[in-house]
Formats: sequence, C-alpha cells, structure tokens
Amino acid sequence: MGDLTGKTALVTGASRGMGRAVALRLAADGALVAVHYGANGDAAAQTVSDIEEAGGQAFAVGAMLGLDGDVDALTALLTEGLQGLPLDVLVNNAACGNLETLFAGSIDRLTPAQFDEVFAVNAKAPFFLVQALLPVLRDGGRIINISSPGTRIALPHQIAYAMSKGALEVMSRTLANALGARGITVNTVTPGATDTGINDSLSAPETRAAITAGTALGRIGRPADIADTVAFLASDDARWITGNVLDVTGGLYLGPLP
Ligand SMILES: NC(=O)c1ccc[n+]([C@@H]2O[C@H](COP(=O)([O-])OP(=O)(O)OC[C@H]3O[C@@H](n4cnc5c(N)ncnc54)[C@H](OP(=O)(O)O)[C@@H]3O)[C@@H](O)[C@H]2O)c1
Repeated sequence: MGDLTGKTALVTGASRGMGRAVALRLAADGALVAVHYGANGDAAAQTVSDIEEAGGQAFAVGAMLGLDGDVDALTALLTEGLQGLPLDVLVNNAACGNLETLFAGSIDRLTPAQFDEVFAVNAKAPFFLVQALLPVLRDGGRIINISSPGTRIALPHQIAYAMSKGALEVMSRTLANALGARGITVNTVTPGATDTGINDSLSAPETRAAITAGTALGRIGRPADIADTVAFLASDDARWITGNVLDVTGGLYLGPLP
C-alpha cells in the first residue's frame, strides 16, 4: 500500500489541520501534491516546504472557495502547477471555517447568508470542482470527500453544516455510480472530533472528556488518523472500494460503553 510515485493529488484546505496531514502523507507516498489554501498562504507555504524537506514534491494553489469564480481560479492554478500532467487524486477536504456558523448554527439563529456560505464552501465548491477537473482526472483515479459524523448524529447547533455534509455524501455515492465506467472510485471519509483549528470546542477540557468518554477507542482523533485512511483509499489496495462512507471516528457515539 501507499506507492503513489508518478501520481498527482490535489488536497483542498491543505494549509492546516487534516488537509495538511493528508498532503504530507500523500507526498510521502510519492505523489506530487497541490496544496490548496484559502486565506493562509503562509501556512500553505509551510506545508509545501515541509513536504520538500522530507524529499517530496508539492506546490501551493490559493483560491477562496464559496465565492464567484472560485473553482475557475483553483482549476487554472492547478493546471499551471501540474504542467500537463493528469490528476490522479482529488481530496475535497476544505470546509467552512466560520465557527459561528458551524457551532452556533441552530434552526432559530442561522441566517440565510450563513446557510448559503456553508453550502457554497462545503457542497457547491466540491461539486463544481469535480465537474471542472473531470477532463484532467485520470481514468482509475480517486475522489475522496471529507464529511462529518453530523450526518449520523443529530447535533442541533450544527444543522446547516451537517446538511451540507449530507449533500456531500449523496454526491459521493452518486458520482461513484457515474464515474465507475472510467475506473474512478469516489468515497467519503468521516472524521470524528479531531484536534485541528476548526474544532475550537476541543480546547475545553470538559468537552474533550465528554467526547473521549463517548468514543469506543477512548481518545480524541489526530489528523494522521484521517490522513492514513485517505492514503489507503488513494492507493491501489482500495481499487475495489467505491460509493462508501468510511467512519474514521474511533467509534464515536456507537452506543453505551461498558
Ligand atoms: N476537526 C474536526 O473535529 C472535524 C470533525 C469532522 C469533520 N471535519 C472535517 O474535516 C475537514 C478538515 O477540517 P479541519 O478540522 O482540518 O479544518 P481546519 O483545521 O480549520 O482547516 C480548514 C482548511 O480548510 C480551508 N478552508 C476553510 N474555508 C475555506 C474557504 N472558504 N476557501 C478555501 N479554503 C478554505 C482552510 O484554508 P485557509 O486556512 O488557508 O483559509 C484550511 O486549510 C473539513 O471538511 C471538516 O468539516 C473536521
């Protein structure tokens, strides 16, 4: 498993958090990685330089998602960076980082503008990114979308965020059927609570303790837990897996613990 030598990958939201871990891992497996970022060009440059220091290859592509022209801008930069190479792996990881929207977005408070923003970044951008990249995505390639346990656990304060991830999961399954004839697999990876910037709530000890107590494997997730799963799905070992949602949560809220 894990030989991506001669292959290429685009990881959205790879300046920080899980996307960064995924970019580092795919590059360690041999891929030339396009490190996408939104607002944090310096962090993306750090990801690229960490990859290069470890002997890998990467370049940064910056485009704010959720704005008009976002996908066109990203596609143009990616095409330039790939210099004629096809794309083998697309990881739709970036998601709306507006904490108010994510963690205080209950039905009684969420505004239409917040709803539109979360859908524009989390569902619309991945959809049109896939559409734009289909011509350069190699037959036998991989699309991996990053979702949330909010699609199986009802969290009232994350309703729009969870709905947007539900849309992403439906997109994944449907695309798996649509693209199977080209040998392209499409899967969803669902992280649990993971130590990254998006998850400010994890800084509270009582939140950490509550999540840990509800997790079968008894700890908070780490970005590498997700990166290793994405690397597996990107590898040839996962060639027969498509249309799936992989729960990579350590067993978050499976039921009463003994
Ligand atoms: N952390 C968790 O506990 C958790 C749990 C379940 C699911 N997830 C999912 O896992 C994925 C990664 O989350 P994370 O925790 O690693 O997040 P993170 O640390 O906050 O990083 C988010 C990344 O997405 C990019 N991004 C956010 N909004 C963007 C926009 N509008 N345009 C372009 N780029 C944008 C950021 O880029 P810049 O900083 O450059 O703007 C950053 O690279 C997301 O899909 C999230 O929904 C996370």
